[in-house]
Amino acid sequence: MPTALIVLAAGKGTRMNSDLPKVLHPLACAPLLVHAMRAGESCDTSKTIVVAGHGAEAVCAAATDHNPEAEVVIQTEQLGTAHAVDQARGALTGFSGDVIVLYGDTPFIRPETLEQMLKARADGNAVVVLGFEAADPGRYGRLIMNGAGDLDVIVEAKDATPKQLEISLCNSGVVCANAEQLFDLISKISNNNASGEYYLTDVVGCAVSAGLNCTTVVCNEEETLGVDSKTGLARAEAAFQRDARLQAMENGVTLTAPETVFFAYDTVVGRDVTIAPNVVFGPDVTIESGATINAFCHLEGCHISKDAVVGPFARLRPGAELGNDARVGNFVEIKNAILGDSAKVNHLSYVGDAEVGENANIGAGTITCNYDGVMKHKTKIGARAFIGSNTSLIAPVSVGNDALTGSGSVIDKEVPDDAIAISRTEQKNLLDQALRRLDRLKHIKVRKTKER
Ligand code: UD1
Repeated sequence: MPTALIVLAAGKGTRMNSDLPKVLHPLACAPLLVHAMRAGESCDTSKTIVVAGHGAEAVCAAATDHNPEAEVVIQTEQLGTAHAVDQARGALTGFSGDVIVLYGDTPFIRPETLEQMLKARADGNAVVVLGFEAADPGRYGRLIMNGAGDLDVIVEAKDATPKQLEISLCNSGVVCANAEQLFDLISKISNNNASGEYYLTDVVGCAVSAGLNCTTVVCNEEETLGVDSKTGLARAEAAFQRDARLQAMENGVTLTAPETVFFAYDTVVGRDVTIAPNVVFGPDVTIESGATINAFCHLEGCHISKDAVVGPFARLRPGAELGNDARVGNFVEIKNAILGDSAKVNHLSYVGDAEVGENANIGAGTITCNYDGVMKHKTKIGARAFIGSNTSLIAPVSVGNDALTGSGSVIDKEVPDDAIAISRTEQKNLLDQALRRLDRLKHIKVRKTKER
């Protein structure tokens, strides 16, 4: 049975007090919206529809950047959650499978939970609602169950009686139903309630009145955590990091000081990788087994192969590819560069837009001068090449296999295989001159002081 996903993302998020639409605030380096989309899409959904409103252009860009097939529909006025879902009606014309409704500001719903909801649907329930036992039910909609343990109706807090407000089983907002049936039920919903809004929650009452069965799947409250303020965002980040650290350790990663390591939503780390304190991951990092990331490194968009060692104090930027057993040491920046197996860049260097062959050794202070102010150019360094300390490699340029550059050289021409390239003025030794020069300077200083 094909499944479609509708993500509600039209709300303003006033409490964020920000120009950025709420669903675009980043959590572990990805917009909140993308977390929701990823959760839904893990259920093999064949269609994703995002309902945008406030900041629609930016929301649309983020949604299609994550999933180019996603369709964005616009809700020009926010008249309630049922009205928001109704905006997807056109996009789902002719679609006869199930639909899952998620909120773009609710990033922690687990794929397993959604699978459970789809199963409850397959078991013959017309509407399946994700509920949770709330520690503080407050403003949440209450799930009213009937004697048979089925879901009877959802009552919004604003419309509930004092007795109903005592119920702690609450609505997360996640709903699963057959698409055609959902839109039929939505057509019957009015806005005759305390908020004057079209409540999606009313589909349950409508379904039960039509003789259809509704049920709940219950998950942990943490899963339903929504973000609507900057403090909520920080709380969500902390929750994400706590889980990511635990997951990494369960997967066999050694974290010396887990609370100081920050993962991105898509970080992949292999077994027996050691991550020292104060390491921060940006998006799109993969680390293979046995590698070591020493303290105070920042990594993004890079791939680190088996047994490589990075840092301390290294920065790997997008396109950095480290071969097996490669070494990148302190105060080294690597960008869009491939380091072959066992290549070493151990100290104070910038390697950008480059290819470095296996077993090459890049000396301290080496710079690939890759940018001429307008264009970027490439540097190629052959296998086993030895780049002397403080070499400037003016790209485009190549250094052959087994070649060597003298320390302090400025290399702007090809260096053939096995050649030594030196480009610096020859050293002169002026014998017996150093102390004499010092004396002369001291005399000048005394004379000048007297003249004042
Ligand atoms: C909703 C539920 C409530 C549930 C709670 C969980 C309804 C009527 N109520 O209430 O039962 O306990 O979520 O958090 O559904 N949105 C739109 N367009 C709209 C209205 C909302 O896109 O016209 C989006 C919002 O951006 C938000 C989500 O839908 O992401 C939920 O809307 P919100 O108004 O915050 O619903 P709650 O009052 O929290």
